[in-house]
Amino acid sequence: MASPAFFFCILISLLLHPSHSSLDLSNDSSDGRHGHGHHHHHHHDDYKVNVSLYYEALCPGCEDFIVEDLVKVVYTDLHSIVNLHLVPYGNAQIQTPNKTVICQHGPLECYYNTIEACALDIWPSLKVNFPFIHCVETRLQHKKDKTVWESCCKDFKLNPKLIQNCYNSAHGKQLIMRNAEETGRLSPAHQYVPWVTVNSRPLYLDYTNLTKNICNAYKGHPKPRACKMGTIIPNHNTIKPCLPS
Ligand SMILES: *[C@@H]1O[C@H](CO)[C@@H](O)[C@H](O)[C@H]1NC(C)=O
Ligand SMILES: *[C@@H]1O[C@H](CO)[C@@H](O)[C@H](O)[C@H]1NC(C)=O
Ligand SMILES: *[C@@H]1O[C@H](CO)[C@@H](O)[C@H](O)[C@H]1NC(C)=O
Ligand SMILES: *[C@@H]1O[C@H](CO)[C@@H](O)[C@H](O)[C@H]1NC(C)=O
Repeated sequence: MASPAFFFCILISLLLHPSHSSLDLSNDSSDGRHGHGHHHHHHHDDYKVNVSLYYEALCPGCEDFIVEDLVKVVYTDLHSIVNLHLVPYGNAQIQTPNKTVICQHGPLECYYNTIEACALDIWPSLKVNFPFIHCVETRLQHKKDKTVWESCCKDFKLNPKLIQNCYNSAHGKQLIMRNAEETGRLSPAHQYVPWVTVNSRPLYLDYTNLTKNICNAYKGHPKPRACKMGTIIPNHNTIKPCLPS
């Protein structure tokens, strides 16, 4: 009998033993830039679609987007044609002169923006950071507290001390300031979160059709199976964006 657990195991083993080296982004620089001076042309990589998600931890629409939509990219063969870049910060603001960060959903949002920025920095590989962030966002939907991320570290056998050190040091704040700058440089500026760009172009509310947008942007051949399935997964339309307050 093919139980759901069976499929789950397949999913996990695909994730942990990817045959597509492209899921291992561990040595890509986190800002997506590659070495200067010489160009290695891997045809496959030349066609990769850059997908960026600008978001904030406690916005319900961002939680839904990560938990229900982004999984369909990371856990299907779409992951092999995508460079995924996550930028936790969203509609937060920086108060002058002391550079205090004010978050839309309060201090807990600031806390988790930093925890997730730390995770992305510590574990640049999508196959490590995505399951963690997916876990955190899933659990935050049900339980809004500061312990959630530690339970996710435990589940994926990730060292929580690395996150703690990042959070408690100046580095966590630096990462948030970097994300603030990157979000501020968006052109056109973001209007709400989740704000999704595909090859630098915003999808606006069409982020619910993420799969379709990625498949259309991909100029390589053949297209991934997920693009051909007919079910271009017309994701649900219930994701409400968070407008800046
Ligand atoms: C990443 O690069 C560093 C230094 O260039 C190397 O030591 C390390 O093994 C690489 N990691 C992976 C996963 O390839
Ligand atoms: C930062 O400045 C604001 C406005 O001047 C003030 O309300 C706030 O208490 C300051 N925060 C810190 C941590 O000093
Ligand atoms: C994706 O981003 C990389 C690194 O910034 C860039 O070199 C490449 O041209 C981008 N690809 C597309 C299709 O925009
Ligand atoms: C998603 O795509 C479908 C089919 O192309 C379209 O009818 C729908 O309006 C799109 N959704 C959004 C929010 O743009």
